[in-house]
Amino acid sequence: MSKLWGGRFTKATDALVEEYTASIFFDKELYEEDIQGSIAHVTMLGKQGILPAEDVQTIIGGLGRVLEKLRRGEVEFKASEEDIHMTVEKHLIADIGPVGGKLHTGRSRNDQVATDMHLYLRKRVVEFVELLGALQEALIAQAKANVETILPGYTHLQRAQPISFGHHLLAYVAMFGRDAERLMDSYKRVDMLPLGAGALAGTTFPIDRHFVAEQLGFSRVYDNSLDAVSDRDFIVEFLSAASLLMTHMSRLCEELVLWSSTEFGFVELDDAFCTGSSIMPQKKNPDVAELVRGKTGRVYGNLVGLLTVLKSLPLAYNKDMQEDKEGMFDTVKHVGGALRLMAPMIATMQVRADRMRGAVDRDFSNATDIADYLVNKGIPFRQAHEIIGKLVLHCIERGIVLLELSLEEYKTFAPEFEGDIYDVLQPEHVVNARAVYGGTAFPQVREAIARAEASLAAT
Ligand code: ARG
Repeated sequence: MSKLWGGRFTKATDALVEEYTASIFFDKELYEEDIQGSIAHVTMLGKQGILPAEDVQTIIGGLGRVLEKLRRGEVEFKASEEDIHMTVEKHLIADIGPVGGKLHTGRSRNDQVATDMHLYLRKRVVEFVELLGALQEALIAQAKANVETILPGYTHLQRAQPISFGHHLLAYVAMFGRDAERLMDSYKRVDMLPLGAGALAGTTFPIDRHFVAEQLGFSRVYDNSLDAVSDRDFIVEFLSAASLLMTHMSRLCEELVLWSSTEFGFVELDDAFCTGSSIMPQKKNPDVAELVRGKTGRVYGNLVGLLTVLKSLPLAYNKDMQEDKEGMFDTVKHVGGALRLMAPMIATMQVRADRMRGAVDRDFSNATDIADYLVNKGIPFRQAHEIIGKLVLHCIERGIVLLELSLEEYKTFAPEFEGDIYDVLQPEHVVNARAVYGGTAFPQVREAIARAEASLAAT
């Protein structure tokens, strides 16, 4: 079949060029949005008297049938039809005849494809925010069940101070909350209509862009036609928000991998979210967590890839911009997949409170608190730090922990020590002593859970 743009050409396109320039094998994903945009466009052409009402009805009827065929998987995609826009138009003309050729009046594929991308991402942004909400809910539920579960908190992956496991999980709830906020902020710029910009300069037809925007549910239209067809910022913003979201998920996954190791044994991931080894019968591997961590790389790659495509591109549309799609689809697929798995994996995770608590019982994560104890007796913090450092070294050399040292020995390090030191050193006491707003004390964690639930309910 001849090309929809074939008039100016005297030769057929080289077969390799057709293959090389075609986007149909990936932009077919946009068929729903493409047809939705076309229906709004042709409805406007009718309202403006640019096309007669009966042609508009015929075209809308035909588009509906093409959509059904696409949904049923009955459309065969061919490189010769280049992209989803040409494919839909070809099938429309095959269905209703030459009148189908009136659809593209006052429009270019440049403003059409940009419109499709806006429609597509508008849905995805909302979907991601919902998926983030489900993940936050799963984390909050585990946090609620583990307010009083104590584990070592780490810095430099060395035991630092004991904390509530609920508090640790809430840190991720906060990160995912910011991710949702970032996506919602980017929504303002996804929620804009480029259609009506034509190829680059506008159109000679008396179209009504605001009417099209209203029909498609866009809050505003692009102000400048050149910007409308050249802008891909909204995709970069989506990829950037997705990258940061993957950063957060990969940090959580790294912890899940560590925690589920025999060495830590802090959690046990549900069998349904792990896989085995083909040779080692004892293995239960945290593959999902590892793969989410690993897929972070491709998501960053998609962001950097698009930024690099856009860099230095002259205005307005350039074919380079067709490269905006695969990375975006890939990101939607893999970040969406990760989010869908993370929520149930967290929800079904068994927390081994005994193992966490056992780790705290044999460590020095309460050392800061004896330093603070001496400060409360009037010793300058620096001096207290020095004394406790020596005391810890003494315990390490003897193979004991701070709670096992006798009061007489304590007094040899500082006469200010009294019998109450043993209460101060209890992990529960250490955790609950951090009662500052946002701290790990149990009542603070309960308040933080209430705040997290309230803010989730408000979105
Ligand atoms: N497939 C193209 C893309 O994705 C559609 C726009 C083509 N416009 C053009 N002037 N060749 O970017």
